[in-house]
This record gives sequence, structure tokens and C-alpha cells, in this order.
Amino acid sequence: MNAPTGLPDLSHLWMPFTANRQFKSQPRMLAGAKGMYYTSVDGRQILDGTSGLWCVNAGHCREEIVQAIARQAGSLDYAPGFQLGHPLAFEAASAVAGLMPQGMDRIFFTNSGSESVDTALKIALAYHRARGDAQRTRLIGRERGYHGVGFGGISVGGISPNRKTFSGALLPAVDHLPHTHSLEHNAFSKGQPAWGAHLADDLERIVALHDPSTIAAVIVEPMAGSTGVLVPPQGYLERLREITAKYGILLIFDEVITGYGRLGAATASEFFGVTPDLITMAKGISNAAVPAGAVAVRREVHDAIVNGAQGGIEFFHGYTYSAHPLAAAAILATLDLYRREQLFTRARTLAPAFEAAAHTLKGAPNVIDVRNIGLVAGIELAPRDGAPGARAAEAFQKCFDSGLMVRYTGDTLAVSPPLIIEESQIAEMFQSIGKVLKEIA
Ligand SMILES: Cc1ncc(COP(=O)(O)O)c(C=O)c1O
Repeated sequence: MNAPTGLPDLSHLWMPFTANRQFKSQPRMLAGAKGMYYTSVDGRQILDGTSGLWCVNAGHCREEIVQAIARQAGSLDYAPGFQLGHPLAFEAASAVAGLMPQGMDRIFFTNSGSESVDTALKIALAYHRARGDAQRTRLIGRERGYHGVGFGGISVGGISPNRKTFSGALLPAVDHLPHTHSLEHNAFSKGQPAWGAHLADDLERIVALHDPSTIAAVIVEPMAGSTGVLVPPQGYLERLREITAKYGILLIFDEVITGYGRLGAATASEFFGVTPDLITMAKGISNAAVPAGAVAVRREVHDAIVNGAQGGIEFFHGYTYSAHPLAAAAILATLDLYRREQLFTRARTLAPAFEAAAHTLKGAPNVIDVRNIGLVAGIELAPRDGAPGARAAEAFQKCFDSGLMVRYTGDTLAVSPPLIIEESQIAEMFQSIGKVLKEIA
């Protein structure tokens, strides 16, 4: 394939989650970023309405993070994490633990959300085995859930295109709760929808079917992002917590998107006041400046595995790059920046203006739902006859052409800007989307 003029050869790179052929015939290429803006290769400023991929929560190329990474690269570029350590790894773990709900202060580092999910699922199995409950191996996810792309993550995940090609190789003992999306009951809800807490009761049915003694863990995103922004119904997460606690089942919140301020608190667990047993995170943990992820584990879960072991290695799991020095430096600088600029509080303070601006799109052409919480909104469009997703894809392209980056999944546009956004930029984002929606059929 010939490269469009001025661009490198595009043929070798097989792009992730991308329509490769379409992209390469009409590339959208980014050359730089600063604060709230990307710069495209043709020199246009593009307002970042999505924090990159829900990850650059403090805005782009923040000096403090850049400097911390640069210093680290010049002093300790890499240290093995198996049977050896380096101080920043422990400092980063303490800093992460300090932001987690009470008691969830044991931290396992990974490099991505997918790795965090697979790590958390393994911790759940190891926990039950350590307690003499090795038959507890069943994992419960939820329809429409996104938990990354590892075999564990796609097995508990509920997005069918991500599963179907690999269906013969998914984990064997997995069930799914029903998803919580209902246009009929909840369209245009502001914040948590009123209808749907009872959907958590389906867990009782699954428990009755398999017997609690076979179930290891339930994993959900407290707010489902990648499937198109599904805000948990009022009382839903509380109900899941009650049922899992009743049967000794671990509850895992996948906070890869919601962690680090998206809802206006360090975690969605804190925001909703529901404490799980494990929290998976990535993305905002390092402001995406270096790939990084982690699992926060309730102390008793950690202790059952670590203190319960005979001696030697207690948990046979880890990555060459767990707590990589550059990641540890980026995490420490990022968390320090969040604290000094009070960015989680800022998100919470901006949320009402963000909600009001998002809901101005009610009544715009083809908009069938607007949903929001914290600094995230989903704008669902009516699908075109016979071409699901096409309308949102066109809106995404037109937004990009007009200088705004949004995301789309199915026919839902998702907006999740860096927490440093100004009120005027919030208004500008939703006005731009409104204008684009008027231009497309
Ligand atoms: C909730 C959730 N879990 C896991 C992942 C996977 O993260 P990664 O792409 O870093 O592997 C994502 C990515 O968007 C996510 O939103």
C-alpha cells in the first residue's frame, strides 16, 4: 500500500482494534500533545475529549511526569522484579495503597489493564486454594463487560466480537450477569439511573445453579466504559456486594477506566461507597506516560496467600516489567500531580456543568440517550438501518476533522476529557458534537 504523501510506510504496522485497511487509506495521525490538545501531523489542534484512551487524566506531556521519567531513565533504567527490588517500586506501591479504600493496601504491579484483570482473577483462585477451597474456580462476569484482551479478560468479558473468534479457547467455568442497559427505563438519566438494582439479584440465580462452594469471584466495571458508558443503577453495586459477601465470593471492581479521578474520587469504589475485595487499575495510574497497571488487594486476601504459603515463592505470577523503574517513577510523579492540583476534586466540581452540557444534546438529531457520571458521558445514536455503528463512526470522523477527539463504540459516542478541562472547553466539546450531529444523516 502506498503511503499518503509525507507519511511513513504504513503497511508493516498491524494496528490494534482498528479497521486497518480503512485507516491506511485515510489515516488520522497525531504528531504531538500538550495539555488538553493533540496536534495532528498536518498541524491542526485537536481538543482531547477522551483523555487519549481514557488514560491521560492530568492532560498531556505534564512537565513533572516527563522530568521524573527522564531522570529515572538516566539513573536506573531497569531492575528485575523477581527476587530483587528497587526503592521506587515500594514507594509507588505505598502511594497507590494510599488512594485505595481502607484495608485494600497490598499492591501487585502489571503493565496494562488486561494484565491487571488476569492477575486479579488468578489472585482470586489462589486465595480460595490457600484457604482449602480449591474447588472455587467459577468466575462471573457481566454481559457487555470489557476486561481487556487476555484469555481471562475475554472469558469474563461480555463483548461478543471480542469473544467469538476465540470462543473455543475461553475459560471453561464462567457465567455472566445481565448487563444494566435499558433505554426503555433509563434513557436520559442524569447520574445513576433509578431502575435496575434488581438486575444484581440474578447473581442469586447463578449461585443457586452452581452452588456457592464452586464460585471464586464476580468481576464488573463499577461503571462500564468501553461498551458505551453504562452507569450503575442506584443500589446495584451495593446489592452485588451484599450477595458476594453472603456467599464468600470475592468481588473484583475493574477500575481501569474509573480509577484515578474519572468520577471525581480516587476510585469508583470510594465514589459509590462500595468496597470490593480487589481493584484492577491501569491507564490513569501513570497518566499513560509509561505503560503501567496494578491490582489493589484487600489485606486478608493477600495474607491468606502469602502468609499461608509454606515458604519460598508464594504466588507464581509476575511480569518482567512489573514495577518497571520508569513506570514507578511515572506513577509517583502522576499521583503527586493529582494530589497537588486536587484533580479528583476538580472533576467532582466540574461534573454538574459537564452533565448540563452533555444533556443539551437531548433533542439533537438521532440522539436516543445521553448518560453521564463524573467527567464521562455517553451519547447514544439511533443505528442506521442495516448499518449498526455507521452513524457513530461518521460522527467520530467529522468531530476529528473539526478538531475534537471523541470515541465511539457501537452507536454510542463517549466523552471523557482530561480532568484539567476548563468549563469553556466542556461547552465547546458538546457544541461541536451537536453541530456534527446536525450535519450527518
Ligand atoms: C475496564 C477495563 N478493563 C481492562 C481494560 C484493558 O486495558 P489495557 O488495554 O491496558 O489492557 C480496559 C481498557 O480500556 C478497560 O476499560
